[in-house]
Amino acid sequence: MTTETGSRQSPEERVRVWLGRIAPEIRSGIGVQNPATDEFVASVPNDGAAAARGAVDRAEAAAAQWRNLVAEERGRLLLRFAERMLEEQDSLAALLTTEQGKPLAEAAGEIRYAASFLRFAAGEAERIYGELVPASQADKRILVLRQPVGVAAIVTPWNFPAAMITRKLGPALAAGCTVVVKPAEQTPLTALALGWLAREAGIPDGVFNIVTGEPAAITGAWLEDPRVRKLSFTGSTEVGRLLMAKASRNLTRLSLELGGHAPFLVFDDADLDRAVEGAVINKFRNAGQTCICANRFYVQAGVYDEFVSRYAAAIRELKVGRGTDEGVSIGPLIDDTGMAKVETHVEDALARGATVREGGKRVRLPGLADRFYAPTLLEGFTPEMLLAQEETFGPVSPAARFVHEEEAIAMANASRYGLAAYFYTRDAARLMRVAEALEYGVIGANDGAPSTAQAPFGGMKHSGFGREGGRYAMEDYLETKYVSWRI
Ligand code: SIN
Repeated sequence: MTTETGSRQSPEERVRVWLGRIAPEIRSGIGVQNPATDEFVASVPNDGAAAARGAVDRAEAAAAQWRNLVAEERGRLLLRFAERMLEEQDSLAALLTTEQGKPLAEAAGEIRYAASFLRFAAGEAERIYGELVPASQADKRILVLRQPVGVAAIVTPWNFPAAMITRKLGPALAAGCTVVVKPAEQTPLTALALGWLAREAGIPDGVFNIVTGEPAAITGAWLEDPRVRKLSFTGSTEVGRLLMAKASRNLTRLSLELGGHAPFLVFDDADLDRAVEGAVINKFRNAGQTCICANRFYVQAGVYDEFVSRYAAAIRELKVGRGTDEGVSIGPLIDDTGMAKVETHVEDALARGATVREGGKRVRLPGLADRFYAPTLLEGFTPEMLLAQEETFGPVSPAARFVHEEEAIAMANASRYGLAAYFYTRDAARLMRVAEALEYGVIGANDGAPSTAQAPFGGMKHSGFGREGGRYAMEDYLETKYVSWRI
């Protein structure tokens, strides 16, 4: 892919180009740091309630024009936006890696993934159908209309600075909503770059507004504002719960994509090559900092030793380092709090009887921040460990053995979370049985990488509610209105 900024530029040069483009939005406030080096990258405004309300003013002012555009035109603008992202994927990836840390190739993959949500939503804009329902009186007609909910607020995390925005933004804009967006404090630059590209693609002013700064003040202002009709949040269960309490004031509609604690089951009849490959891809994506990556491995007794030894060998090969360096597959953790959590979980597991099969320690790299953790496999995992209760958000894989299918399902479901679960088997009957029994919103059946723009993504239980992706995502941004028409 050739980019506008040139294919031979270094990641640093590409980042400089982006900082020049979004310069008007870069002002003193919150400093953005490169998590791999601790270097200062840029500052963004530390905005609060007033700026949040100002963004709603702009979104409200643009609402009528946007919702009244024909759906085909909204779709065309979204497609253009997606195309511009793809044209700029290398430079966007450099910016994303600089503020978030993930390896460049993975960052470019995220940009493609992010653009796919806009592309898919562009098509959905033209498929927002109403209905004519048969009435029980001959002189009546029942019309069902689908209309945009109004101004939608979008609050996103740092682990996917591009994709978590477009996964919400695409369907919101396709439905005819205007939006206000608050990206994570750690990764606002990718969001500002998306805003720049959206303007360039022709999305009118006021349709996609970004506010950076203080999360509680911004979300508080949005949930106190009756003009904000919907809030979609991806982040921790704890924050999701606070937002839900505040949303009661204006009965703001919510979608909450919260924490996960994914089990990964390997049955005796699994294809072990695929299971190991799927486990590595799944667990170490973004250094284990995803809501859907495996938090615990349960392996059936007949293949336990072989799976664990192949998995250990595979993860030993993974190179840890700065995301812009050649061949790196695991970047830094986002910050020191993230590192402290990983270390606490591992120390707690060891104190409770786990053993380190691979990793289990920091990786210190000359000239870089002390924020890299080795890909880790722990054996002797038990339910009392912190690893079993909380999301680790790091490259740690605790493994336990099981004997019976029922036991594995019970262990897998013994969690307050219900976002994603994985299992490997060659038995078709078991595949259906286990898929139906797992209390999770996303199931990877012989698949460690289930995320895609066409599918409904979201959780159950403490992992939240609402679905993003696919045609299901449109529901969150549409009101259903019925007209009883006496003819
Ligand atoms: C997440 O961590 O919430 C997103 C993962 C994905 O979209 O695959």
